[in-house]
Amino acid sequence: MKLILLGPPGAGKGTQAAQLVERFSIPQVSTGDMLRAAVREQTPMGLKAKEFMDKGALVTDEVVIGIVRERLQQPDCESGFILDGFPRTVPQADALAETLSVLGKDLDAVISLHVETDALVERLVGRRSCRGCGRGFHISFDPPAKEGVCDSCGGELFQRDDDKEETIRKRMEVYHQQTVPLENYYRQAGLLKAVDGMAPIAEVQQQVLGILQAL
Ligand code: AP5
Ligand code: MG
Ligand code: ZN
Repeated sequence: MKLILLGPPGAGKGTQAAQLVERFSIPQVSTGDMLRAAVREQTPMGLKAKEFMDKGALVTDEVVIGIVRERLQQPDCESGFILDGFPRTVPQADALAETLSVLGKDLDAVISLHVETDALVERLVGRRSCRGCGRGFHISFDPPAKEGVCDSCGGELFQRDDDKEETIRKRMEVYHQQTVPLENYYRQAGLLKAVDGMAPIAEVQQQVLGILQAL
């Protein structure tokens, strides 16, 4: 299965991807997670990317296209993958189409999560992520059993640098300007499937599974 999860910051892409990974044993390819790993490792690319990420802006197409192209050629992507946060611009979508055609692969679906802006801000402000395994939580909607500690690995929970209200607003703006056009792009390709992302996490997952079963 080859999927794209499309949606604004805080829509639940990472949350839904993690559940799909468990069910289908295919990797989640999150450009945000890969870029944050490069920032942690302080690679030259990571240091450059951090400047954009801290402002809520997009990292250049060239950089993210390069990362994804390399990642999709790894053996674990052979039987499928879940793209989370990529593509985010029309040039990225074009580059993905080209990469997949070289690999002789086709996308199965683009799942678009719809969530209202106020709810997105509330989700991002209350999000906590695990330093150990990357699992996401929410202080109200998906709380860990023990405050500040990951249920899966006991790791420390932290707040992302770009989850400050001002940066969140900027990320939303960038999403509307640069990523929303992809809805039409994939609608025209007959791949777009809309999901009501306002529902609770488990219900959103059921909607996604329903779409995948009907493919
Ligand atoms: P990225 O890490 O991709 O961030 P994003 O797109 O802003 O999305 P988020 O990870 O914030 O949200 P999500 O949809 O995964 O939500 P989650 O499941 O965590 O990118 C970060 C930055 O990297 C970008 O700003 C850019 O600089 C750069 N970048 C990345 N990709 C790039 C690209 N392709 N091109 C250029 N630059 C790129 O859920 C959020 C919270 O809500 C959690 O707390 C969760 O528990 C909770 N929640 C989830 N679902 C529900 C629900 N149904 N009900 C209630 N709460 C819920
Ligand atoms: Mg995410
Ligand atoms: Zn953890």
